[in-house]
Amino acid sequence: MCGIVGYVGKNHGVDTILEALSRLEYRGYDSAGVAVLHDGQIQVRKKAGKLQGLVDHVHKHPLIGTIGIGHTRWATHGLPNETNAHPHSDSTGKLTIVHNGIIENYAELKEKLISKGHEFKSQTDTEVIVHLIEEHAKRMPLEQAFRLTLKEIRGSYAVCLLSADEPDRIFGARNGSPLIVGIGKGESFFASDVPAVLGRTRRVWYLNDGEVVELRASGPKITTLDGKLLKRQPTTIKWDLTAARKEGYAHFMLKEIHEQPTAIEQTLFNRLKPETGQITFNRSTRAFLDALKPQEKIIIIACGTAYHAGLVGEYMLEEFANIPVDVDLASEFRYRGAMLDKNTTVIAITQSGETADTLAGIRLAKKQGAKIFSICNVMGSSIARESDAVLYTHAGPEIAVASTKAYTSQVTALTLLTLYLAKKRKRFAPARWKQLVRDFAALPNVIKKALEKAPDVKSVAAKYAGCRNFYYLGRRYNFPSALEGALKLKEICPLIHAEGYAAGEMKHGPISLIRMGWPVVFIATKSPVYEKVISNIEEVRARRGDCIVIASEGDSHIKRYADSLITVPETEEIFSPIVSAIPLQLFAYYVAVANKCDVDQPPNLAKSVTVE
Ligand code: M6R
Repeated sequence: MCGIVGYVGKNHGVDTILEALSRLEYRGYDSAGVAVLHDGQIQVRKKAGKLQGLVDHVHKHPLIGTIGIGHTRWATHGLPNETNAHPHSDSTGKLTIVHNGIIENYAELKEKLISKGHEFKSQTDTEVIVHLIEEHAKRMPLEQAFRLTLKEIRGSYAVCLLSADEPDRIFGARNGSPLIVGIGKGESFFASDVPAVLGRTRRVWYLNDGEVVELRASGPKITTLDGKLLKRQPTTIKWDLTAARKEGYAHFMLKEIHEQPTAIEQTLFNRLKPETGQITFNRSTRAFLDALKPQEKIIIIACGTAYHAGLVGEYMLEEFANIPVDVDLASEFRYRGAMLDKNTTVIAITQSGETADTLAGIRLAKKQGAKIFSICNVMGSSIARESDAVLYTHAGPEIAVASTKAYTSQVTALTLLTLYLAKKRKRFAPARWKQLVRDFAALPNVIKKALEKAPDVKSVAAKYAGCRNFYYLGRRYNFPSALEGALKLKEICPLIHAEGYAAGEMKHGPISLIRMGWPVVFIATKSPVYEKVISNIEEVRARRGDCIVIASEGDSHIKRYADSLITVPETEEIFSPIVSAIPLQLFAYYVAVANKCDVDQPPNLAKSVTVE
């Protein structure tokens, strides 16, 4: 959601910025812009639509300069058009900014600025920031004006400021929206995320809220909002750009679906030890988990796909570890007045570690004395840094907006957590434990086998690609799978409406819509509720709905109930959401491709939702 880039160095600024912006495209955006300083003049180019439009525009109307800022905008205030695209300039054209976030008090600030003679060109909240800096800079040095402005604006921001009078430096700051600094050789960067700078440097600073950075080619300087100098060691990024490239796959989503055996292996690496039958974590995670008291209550908070992973976690933590669990959408948790105390552990699940609602949720929980444990993919992200303990999923960068490998590695991490806590609570006979550990370790291979069925899923998808409404139904561990399958389809296929339900809920309403040919995807793998799911399939068939059934391999009984059958290897129920995710993801992918949808960057969606 909005990508920010800032650059100071000796290279061609605009090319560097455009290339960095292209690596942030996965975040989702609807317009793009760039501003470069040369000979005391800032020149701005903007375009609505895809970044390529801006690239073509810049080719026709070239820019030169070795210092500049760039932006991909995801509209919050004002239409996604060229006027509202960033960068935004002050009245004189000497100050230019890019911003990610929402300024909550922009309306009142705008009114005051208008009364002082400022004229606004856009409908954005962002434009007030640059006018406010301009206003303050009439009476004080620019840096001071920038800091004062940051103190006056309310809301979330990652912001970069370029001034025509400051040819050697850019200022940047963050509060609630991600911003990193890349430290290169003779060049420095601001960016919303690491892939933007990876081609040029691996040394980064992750900024905290309330920090201000002065970026120069010779290096960055970091201070508090009040100007106190801070010391920070750079983090060295271990993964490289090849991990963020398509490598022959038609889409990132397909690549990431196929990366799941490896992603799960990485989540399990050094934690699940089948040879000794142990599950182990690093010291801090272990210390956190070992300190959990028997009366502990867990609240899982997350958004979207991560929320579905949380629902799977609820089933397993309650069944295996005997711990009471609530799962909340982070956006609701923040406002529902949950009763928390020191005996509550809040588990935040997040791929990006930057989701605004989840971040606000953990901050609120912390204030009320709860302990925070996060399951996160992005190292050094805001949520990871603000948690008492973190279990990293190590799934590698996920670029496609639709979450796939992040989901299955989140469920894998929750399974590790569950089995660890359950074992500590002596919930298993040794033979049962041995069998679970063995099956868990075999999971990456099971996923490989499920992926081999991609051609079957593709032909089933071809059969239903013209349908415009789908239901997804499942029970117990595969109820969240039904929600997740439906979410995958509707997010990457904007033409299609898909709804996931607990299969037992059908009779309480949704069944009224079933009529001839209405496609219903059932997750009917072997489990204690298998027979119940078969009854639900019967109910749909009785109304002449079309049943697409995901079943366990070797289940010959189910064939007679399925209009279309997709099989997956049979597993223990606890592992089944991970396995059933594969055909669900592939089905959504192939339906989207058949409908010529923009699979990796669906309209209106952003990879990382950093505003409320
Ligand atoms: O980065 P997070 O895991 O916190 O993101 C949460 C959701 O925005 C995310 O899972 C979203 O629902 C996915 N795009 C769905 O595929």
